[in-house]
Amino acid sequence: MILLGVNVDHVATLRQARYRNESNTFGGFVEPDPASMAWLAEEAGADGITMHVREDRRHVQVEDVQRYLEHKKTRLNLEVSLSEDMVKLALSLNPDSVCLVPENRMEVTTEGGLDVVGNLARAKEAVDEFAKKNIPTSMFIDPDYSQLEASAKIGSQWVELHTGSFARAWHDVQKRDHELNVLKKGMEIGLSLGLQVNAGHGINYQNVEGAKKLDRVTEFNIGHSIICRSLNQGLPEAVSTMRRLLNS
Ligand code: PXP
Repeated sequence: MILLGVNVDHVATLRQARYRNESNTFGGFVEPDPASMAWLAEEAGADGITMHVREDRRHVQVEDVQRYLEHKKTRLNLEVSLSEDMVKLALSLNPDSVCLVPENRMEVTTEGGLDVVGNLARAKEAVDEFAKKNIPTSMFIDPDYSQLEASAKIGSQWVELHTGSFARAWHDVQKRDHELNVLKKGMEIGLSLGLQVNAGHGINYQNVEGAKKLDRVTEFNIGHSIICRSLNQGLPEAVSTMRRLLNS
């Protein structure tokens, strides 16, 4: 069975769009709440929750993570960058696992995989610090042999393969097959190096059909598309309830 990790960053993005400054709150009612959405996702069958606390705090806030942890039912996979401050913060939050990701202030979302090869010493230091607290660490990487090998070398327990190129190529059959083969190869190499292989980024309700051909991937981490579908599916109820309240 392939596990599903639900990423709730986009819930926080929506909240921050309106309530970035506390003075904007309407009577202190701040919504949507990433922690509540994470609990709902767990009730619906999510195998784990992922939150990314970015250096610029553009979406998930530390308080969201703390609040979620108070009533966590599954496990928290916390994504952070390699910076010393973020590693220190992740250690203090004590998640069930950490996924190290690259961060670039200008990007809209995580664009490429982490360059483990180019940051070998720093990545190893981080993995070792987390290991001291029994927190397993993953590297979010492109399906590239050298990155997989470096991840195994520094003691990372698993990797998350970046599926963004595959997702972008979905409507071009030739490119899609090529990207899927690259990912398959990455998956096999990762497994042969003793790594658990997860995957994610850009997976949606269409391309999941192809993504699941990566049948030895333990878990897919999916965010944007799940949050979008919840908006679509939830809108009819939201509109009819507001209409009823206006007229009752
Ligand atoms: N995995 C990682 C490491 C990510 O940074 C993201 C995006 O936040 C995801 C998975 C989920 O990607 P998406 O929101 O496109 O499903």
